Amino acid sequence: MSSNNRIKVGVIGAGAIATHCHIPAYQALPDVEVVAVADATPGRAQEVAGKFGIARAFTDYRDLLAVDGLKVVSICSPNAFHAEQTIAALEAGINVLCEKPMAIAYDDAVRMVDTAKRTGKLLMIGMTNRFREDIQAMRQYAVDGLLGEIYYMKAGWLRRSGIPGYGSWFTNKKLSGGGSLLDIGVHFLDMALWIAGFPKPLAVTGATFAKFGPSGKALGGWGADIFRTGKQVFDVDDLATAFIRLENGAVLTLEVSWAAHVGEFGENYLRFLGTEGGMETASRFDKHYSVRYYSERHDHQYDQQLQVSAGDKNHWVEIAHFIDCVKGSAEPLVTFEQSLTVAKVLDGIYRSAELGREVAL
Ligand SMILES: NC(=O)c1ccc[n+]([C@@H]2O[C@H](COP(=O)([O-])OP(=O)(O)OC[C@H]3O[C@@H](n4cnc5c(N)ncnc54)[C@H](O)[C@@H]3O)[C@@H](O)[C@H]2O)c1
Repeated sequence: MSSNNRIKVGVIGAGAIATHCHIPAYQALPDVEVVAVADATPGRAQEVAGKFGIARAFTDYRDLLAVDGLKVVSICSPNAFHAEQTIAALEAGINVLCEKPMAIAYDDAVRMVDTAKRTGKLLMIGMTNRFREDIQAMRQYAVDGLLGEIYYMKAGWLRRSGIPGYGSWFTNKKLSGGGSLLDIGVHFLDMALWIAGFPKPLAVTGATFAKFGPSGKALGGWGADIFRTGKQVFDVDDLATAFIRLENGAVLTLEVSWAAHVGEFGENYLRFLGTEGGMETASRFDKHYSVRYYSERHDHQYDQQLQVSAGDKNHWVEIAHFIDCVKGSAEPLVTFEQSLTVAKVLDGIYRSAELGREVAL
């Protein structure tokens, strides 16, 4: 395809997720060209542009938005900048794929959605786990009615030692908006609600803790080597839990940690209990197993194990899907209304934790 006909893409924030996933995933598509990259850290955009053969590099993201013919922008900057950059891109007539979490405040998420509606441009939040094979299979089981009425859900990801980027933006509330809940809780909340068909959340009781981060324990992960604030700030949660009541009478419990005294590799899981069947997927202590389904047939307990893996190319699938949406051959799998609901629940969990009581949503 001639370079003139390719869909022109820009990437804002040239850190880990941009260089490990977004840029290579766009570059793997034959009808797409990454034409510009922007990063607020001086020299970073130029370095990444050189490495990936990208023509234009900017320190100010607004210069990137002015590049002629730009159709798509990926927002891969720290959480605090998602709203401002998404809104500016939409206003410039550009479709936006924004990394999770959507924003650091619910009001910002509302403004992002309002702008997307008004401009008619696409806005999708990068809930990359929805593109996993096992999660897609679980969604299909629920859609096919194999669980009956889902009344109880439990979702969680407990890391033993995985505080990302200590002293970087990740652990600084002003830049991240929150810790483990916004970083990894958002994925499990989104997956659980999506598989269950997004029943409306009514109320939430949340609690958050910071028992490791403030003393510099349980460090690990990414981020710190690229964007330092200069100070070793840790003013976010390293464990969060919530009990969420849904309009259809179902409940969801959520637990996530960046750091906790759990087994060496931690664990992550999703469990759904319904009137016709139960279903779970989990990885524990480095043993990944696929989806299990539990039910009954002819008065006997009946179990199935699906041979599907989580896969490791979810960002590639997500980005190819977003490009299909831009071309008009697909509808966003992650709608902005769903992401707004997730943002509302996350906001509710933090409010409830602060007030020490249930809050209505
Ligand atoms: N979907 C996933 O599974 C997943 C995984 C990792 C990160 N993320 C998300 O991606 C985003 C980036 O995370 P990361 O791990 O790449 O972080 P990172 O620290 O590696 O990269 C962030 C980059 O943004 C740059 N930056 C800082 N302020 C900026 C600004 N105002 N404008 C433009 N660039 C700016 C920094 O210089 C840095 O290069 C976060 O929102 C994070 O939650 C998503």
